[in-house]
Amino acid sequence: MQGELLREGQSRSPREDQRSSMERLRPDRSRTDCPVLLSERLVLRAPHEDDIDALAHLANNANVATMVSRMPHPYTVNDAADFVRRTKAGAIGKCVYAITKADNGAFLGCCGIEPTEDPATVEIGYWLGEPYWNKGYTTEAAHALIDMVFRTRPDVEQIDARCRVTNVASRRVIHKCGFQFQGSGLAASLALGSNVPVEWFRLDRKTWISLRSWGVLR
Ligand SMILES: CC(C)(COP(=O)(O)OP(=O)(O)OC[C@H]1O[C@@H](n2cnc3c(N)ncnc32)[C@H](O)[C@@H]1OP(=O)(O)O)[C@@H](O)C(=O)NCCC(=O)NCCS
Repeated sequence: MQGELLREGQSRSPREDQRSSMERLRPDRSRTDCPVLLSERLVLRAPHEDDIDALAHLANNANVATMVSRMPHPYTVNDAADFVRRTKAGAIGKCVYAITKADNGAFLGCCGIEPTEDPATVEIGYWLGEPYWNKGYTTEAAHALIDMVFRTRPDVEQIDARCRVTNVASRRVIHKCGFQFQGSGLAASLALGSNVPVEWFRLDRKTWISLRSWGVLR
């Protein structure tokens, strides 16, 4: 599966998707289960060493760190190098992507999915460097990621998303991806060193199928 390119809107029947996914399914997933993803303006690919400087620069921002659960603040070049090393080792979920511009390769941020205690549920996460906010990039990346999950992983029935109650932009991204509100609670924030109120959302496979064109939510 390595090197396979999935493009938004690529048309294969659900049955074809499921059959080829089943053939690819292995008990111990590896990085090769996370294909490079292409969308209209973005390439989602594995983070690598060339990203370290841009990653350290963009992630060293309290407006980013305080909105995600496990990003240290301040964020150093060493933190970025460690992040790249651990993603390569599969230590941070199994599918962590660098979000990059298709036209010039610029590193914009990261997104990924990680397993939960329930094998049928994965959780999506994302952040983008502040200079790139409000251009629709995260929504575009999330659509590509969600499509990849439901198309290639027949074992996954739902994707969860969480955001801080105060995170209006992330809640909007979540809405534009079709997630439904499930409840609220508390989650740890490494940057703040405390628990913060969060909202929990879920997108199930049936809803994704009914929204597949995404245009419904724009
Ligand atoms: C949340 C985040 C990833 C969004 O990225 P993005 O690329 O700007 O998202 P998009 O452009 O796809 O969508 C953002 C939406 O929020 C809206 N928005 C942003 N700030 C807003 C505000 N203060 N009030 C109302 N709407 C707002 C935008 O207008 C846009 O909606 P629209 O397309 O309907 O106009 C980015 O802000 C970020 O990285 N924040 C810090 C880290 C973070 O919060 N990560 C998510 C943790 S759950």
